[in-house]
Amino acid sequence: MRILVINGPNLNMLGIREPELYGKKDYAALCAAIEAHARRLGVEVGIFQSNCEGEIVTRIQQALGREDAVVINAAAYTHTSIAILDALKAIALPTVEVHLTDPMLREEFRHISYTGMACEARFAGAGFESYLKALDYLHEKYLK
Ligand code: DQA
Repeated sequence: MRILVINGPNLNMLGIREPELYGKKDYAALCAAIEAHARRLGVEVGIFQSNCEGEIVTRIQQALGREDAVVINAAAYTHTSIAILDALKAIALPTVEVHLTDPMLREEFRHISYTGMACEARFAGAGFESYLKALDYLHEKYLK
């Protein structure tokens, strides 16, 4: 099983960005944690980060025939992007939404998740662990 992990805008700023919310570990540490967990599970993982909505749409389209499932933290685009929602619906792969924080416990403008409308599960509020739970979920559901 090959899983595509997509990270949206400003996640490359982890460690610098609002550490009281997102933690002190940087983006490289997040990628390392995801890769180590994928190795433990025996799944292949590819990680893509972009600050640009169109690049995220293009990478989602490229997952067709290349990956079997998607884990997505669309970051702020979660709450705005019908284009990313449509791309996820177009490829129709099993998709899981993740967030470091829990947007439902934050400002009201973060309560809507367009990207989540194409996702079958959601893990939020657990920091890096949210991503690991998403990998566990996909492994459990599609590989066992
Ligand atoms: C986030 C939550 C979003 O509301 C925010 O815009 C982000 C990060 C999270 O992982 O907690 O950039 O997706």
